[in-house]
Amino acid sequence: MSKVALITGGASGLGLATSRAFAKDGWTVAIADLNVTSGEQVAKELGGTFYKTNVTDWDSLSDTFARVWKEYERLDFVFANAGIVEKVDIYKHEESDARGLPPKLDTTVMDINLTSVINTSYLAIHFFRKNTTPGGALVITASSGGLYPVPFLPMYGAAKHGCVGFTRSIANTMSKEGIRVNCICPGAVRTGLLAQHEWDRLPQATFVPIEKVVKAVQMLVNDDSLNGKAVELIKDQWKFRDPPEFEDEAMKEVMSVDSKAFDTQRH
Ligand SMILES: NC(=O)c1ccc[n+]([C@@H]2O[C@H](COP(=O)([O-])OP(=O)(O)OC[C@H]3O[C@@H](n4cnc5c(N)ncnc54)[C@H](O)[C@@H]3O)[C@@H](O)[C@H]2O)c1
Repeated sequence: MSKVALITGGASGLGLATSRAFAKDGWTVAIADLNVTSGEQVAKELGGTFYKTNVTDWDSLSDTFARVWKEYERLDFVFANAGIVEKVDIYKHEESDARGLPPKLDTTVMDINLTSVINTSYLAIHFFRKNTTPGGALVITASSGGLYPVPFLPMYGAAKHGCVGFTRSIANTMSKEGIRVNCICPGAVRTGLLAQHEWDRLPQATFVPIEKVVKAVQMLVNDDSLNGKAVELIKDQWKFRDPPEFEDEAMKEVMSVDSKAFDTQRH
């Protein structure tokens, strides 16, 4: 049986391009997305399956994993990719209500771009462990906004820094079970993430061709030696971005504490 990929946000943009590439390589692709029209169309085109999924809803997300497992009884690659940009301006001077408070801040971007990525990863790990030979490849879509400050989208930047930090934090522990965890950090790619007029405002020479992003994902899935990597994509180039050097041996020692040693209650 062919290898099975589960791709969140597979109905558009990076997820769609990656779905097409993996289907072309002979994979069975399961697409999880909110967008039913496009999702069903893509699944039909690729001979895969579509699962209407809201990644921020645990029941919806976990049900998709359960259904994919029931259908194929294997899972080789999970692409935790669905994401949005924030629709609110955190810098805006807001009116005060009767209690002197501003309106509640809409933090949906954190739910989709970070909390859901962690839930997707958690479920991926659970099902990778069920494979006949336990293991699998998890790729998380971070962003160049996960490596640099993003003053024009600060919550997006915070979520994407979280994705990079999460990847680097769990990779070593998971590698002991044959599970590899890596992330991609693309610069601007023309997708459905922003409206055309918003893309037009960004420096055009910096855009990343979507095929380069797909190639990076293929590399991370197909090369068994890659783990804990953050791949930055700029124009048509890519490079591995390492975490900062440890300040000293003491910091290295603290950050190298084994998760089992930290809190035995959890194991
Ligand atoms: N396009 C870029 O410049 C760029 C750069 C760096 C990182 N990224 C990241 O790439 C990922 C994919 O974005 P894209 O650029 O392909 O945009 P896109 O809008 O074309 O695709 C995103 C897909 O995610 C789906 N989605 C959104 N919310 C969802 C939810 N709650 N549940 C399920 N599906 C949901 C959408 O329906 C859509 O199909 C995102 O995480 C984004 O932050 C994009």
